[in-house]
Amino acid sequence: MKDYLILNIKSLLGIDEGGKLKFRAGEDMDRINSIDNAFLLISNGRIKDFGKMLDIKANYFTDGCVIIDATDRYVLPAWCDSHTHLVYANSREQEYVDKIKGLSYEEIARRGGGILNSVERLHHTSEEQLYDEAFARLEQMRSLGTGAVEIKSGYGLTTESELKMLRVIRRLKETSDMTIRSTFLGAHSIPMEFRDHQEKYVDIIVNEMIPEIAKEKLADFVDVFCDRGFFTVEDTSRILEAGAKYGMRPKIHANELDYSGGIQIGVKYHALSVDHLEYTGDAEIAALKESDTIPTLLPGAAFFLNMPYAPARKMINAGLPVALATDCNPGSSPSCNMQLILSFASVLYKMTPVEAINAVTINSARAMGVEDELGTITVGKKGNVVITKKIPSIEYIPYAYGENKIERTIICK
Ligand code: NIG
Ligand code: FE
Repeated sequence: MKDYLILNIKSLLGIDEGGKLKFRAGEDMDRINSIDNAFLLISNGRIKDFGKMLDIKANYFTDGCVIIDATDRYVLPAWCDSHTHLVYANSREQEYVDKIKGLSYEEIARRGGGILNSVERLHHTSEEQLYDEAFARLEQMRSLGTGAVEIKSGYGLTTESELKMLRVIRRLKETSDMTIRSTFLGAHSIPMEFRDHQEKYVDIIVNEMIPEIAKEKLADFVDVFCDRGFFTVEDTSRILEAGAKYGMRPKIHANELDYSGGIQIGVKYHALSVDHLEYTGDAEIAALKESDTIPTLLPGAAFFLNMPYAPARKMINAGLPVALATDCNPGSSPSCNMQLILSFASVLYKMTPVEAINAVTINSARAMGVEDELGTITVGKKGNVVITKKIPSIEYIPYAYGENKIERTIICK
């Protein structure tokens, strides 16, 4: 593993000296600690030291250490993308055209399109090909500044195919430098043959899929699409209970299409995060306030489906710690670009650039359970950092949307 010494950094951002910070909530989301004209030393994959250029020690310039001059550039913790469906077969641009012509996401799903379309394609795609395509997406994400990714199953919907997806994710964990966490999402959609008795599909998830997956230790977390037209609160309870027996903490899809009760059930089962949250009112915010569940917003999906936006400002003003992620998937958010998410958060959700940066670093690290090793510049944490191009200010990152402002992403296994 190479050592890196980054010099002349215009500003080193996202510092947490003591390593005590687990997330930033409410007003604190608009704070970020920084050092101007700084250096950063990464040794053996870990952050070893940082500080003012004036205080750099002569013995940091060792043989073999990669020296990087970051004059006019910012350095920050690499983004943590805490919600993706990165393993999938084929894009779905035909549905995109159908949506432009007026069909809704739910109408497409009812006709067997949407998630079930991806399920059909995944059945016919080899593990090898799924792996190759997902690996290429990880490389693209890295070039855009991402250093950690959560990846879900959910395009299998049979025991065999869900296992296939999760094995692909396991292989990505083994071969990629990225920090990866896996989530079992057997309850992503109801297969056609179970449309009139979906509890029978939930039986399979609970009695067959979860025990098999646990036996192979294939999933860190368990997810359910708890929403109108998909899985009910009762289905969700059964699945989360079953996952809990094997130590799988929930990270759930909630309140994207309606006030589904998903947020409350997630909180009840001690979810690490509840995600989407377009339909969040006072009762949902009150439930979140009493919990340590991270509300995670996915503005890429709301933008792409042209759906209502989650009330980000209301959540932050209520003192919550908001995280942001891409939701990268072929149906509702075909982009893995976290810089675009920063722009959406600022423009559509009225989050300040600093709030948005905290939401894609420390808060999203927390939303995927990696806040002790990633998400801030702290001695001892993994040396996953981004070095920007020459840019005039940190606000320029969300401002110049669509452009890649990252020159280099350093990722340590
Ligand atoms: O997070 N909302 C449910 N699931 C995905 C969409 C997956 C798909 O359409 O393929 C989401 O948006
Ligand atoms: Fe999703």
